[in-house]
Amino acid sequence: MSKEAQNQMEKIVSFAKRRGFIFPGSEIYGGLAGTWDYGPVGTELKNNIRSAWWKRFVHNRSDMYGLDSAILMNAKVWEASGHIAGFSDPMVDCKSCKSRFRADHLAEGKYGEVKMAGGKQVCPVCGKNDLTEARPFNMMFRTWIGPMEETANEIYLRPENAQGMFVDFKNVLDTMHPKLPFGIAQTGRVFRNEITPGDFIFRVREFDLMEFEYFIDPKDWEELFEMWLKEIAEWLNFLGLDAKKIYNHDIPDGERAHYSRRTTDIEYEFPFGMKELCAIAYRTDYDLLKHQEYSKKDLTYFDEATKSRFIPHVLEPTFGLDRAFLATLVEAYTEEELEKGDTRVVLKLPRTLAPYKVAVFPLVSNKENITAKAREVYAMLKPHFHTAWDDIGNIGKRYRRQDEIGTPWCVTIDYDTLENNTVTVRDRDSMKQERVAVDELQKYFEEKLK
Ligand code: GAP
Repeated sequence: MSKEAQNQMEKIVSFAKRRGFIFPGSEIYGGLAGTWDYGPVGTELKNNIRSAWWKRFVHNRSDMYGLDSAILMNAKVWEASGHIAGFSDPMVDCKSCKSRFRADHLAEGKYGEVKMAGGKQVCPVCGKNDLTEARPFNMMFRTWIGPMEETANEIYLRPENAQGMFVDFKNVLDTMHPKLPFGIAQTGRVFRNEITPGDFIFRVREFDLMEFEYFIDPKDWEELFEMWLKEIAEWLNFLGLDAKKIYNHDIPDGERAHYSRRTTDIEYEFPFGMKELCAIAYRTDYDLLKHQEYSKKDLTYFDEATKSRFIPHVLEPTFGLDRAFLATLVEAYTEEELEKGDTRVVLKLPRTLAPYKVAVFPLVSNKENITAKAREVYAMLKPHFHTAWDDIGNIGKRYRRQDEIGTPWCVTIDYDTLENNTVTVRDRDSMKQERVAVDELQKYFEEKLK
């Protein structure tokens, strides 16, 4: 990573902590590598991204069904899916200093400059020529179900949501009677024991996935793959991401998972490089066939039109919520030069995603009638928009604080409010102010959020 990119990331990480977006996991105990906690403001942004995704891909469509399957699943699920045999990354150890690396990242120079000695790469930590050969490391977290810690009770924390949707495929068919093409969507926590987590929340050991399995007739796969690529591009546009920073990387033959006929990684230009943000894969009928074989349950679909039974094929668009959060945060973070050498940090988030939509300020905090009126306005707005209250410091400082967390509008209650029941509404991006009647406020914001 260049020095500039490193500075940019350090700035984002410290900003995210200072303004309540993201805290290091288990911080008071010295932390836990690869874990982060979302703070009060970050939780709102994360929830807003997740609900926008759900609204767009589930509620606004008539071919999608939601699911919330258990994190703990029968271990046979992971045997059938191939995760027990193959969900691994190549790992290399330094026998001298005991450092551990992901082999592909080591070769790319992610841990520092690649240096060779005697025809072999040396350890980037201690510089010794004492690295082991690469060997597979399974990334699933193992645990035991019930009180007996024995092999028979061994289970895994799910590393993806997808398998829940395959395992419940028949239940969804039998209860909802969908016609092809249709999808099952799910968001939720997944766990991966990454060898070397890093780049803030980009590569973590516990994260949220939003994904769906879109079941299709195989003859339609190419057309539907393109349709989903377009839908994904529109979603990323909705997050406010600059299309010039997005690149669709078609994974070449030989580098894809063996069951995939086509995989496209959608990459985003993070400060630390062009990296996978989300992806779409054509998984054929591999998963349902495997689950049919291992469970011995019929997972076929009956097509009324052709009176035939077959295993549908699957397209899988998958979105890491934490990576979407990071890209949205990085893109929105803006340092602006103002007049007279003044500067401000403003988070230019799409307004619908902003953690707070409105902030309410009493112009002065020591006048009871102004504070009481401001409390009234705050109580009126709060059930409709997530609303912040701030009565500390001068109005300029309060604007800056709300700019930093991306609040689109600040409402100030002043002496005129007591006279004519109007307030000042100040816009985050233009910084322009206008007077709006208190009775019109709800409609005013609803219109702007449409
Ligand atoms: N069901 C398919 C699947 O899980 P994946 O490419 O392994 O595919 C999907 O992961 C998405 O999850 C990625 O596109 C990325 O956004 C996110 N992701 C993967 N590993 C991650 C990690 N360690 N930390 C944060 N996000 C991760």
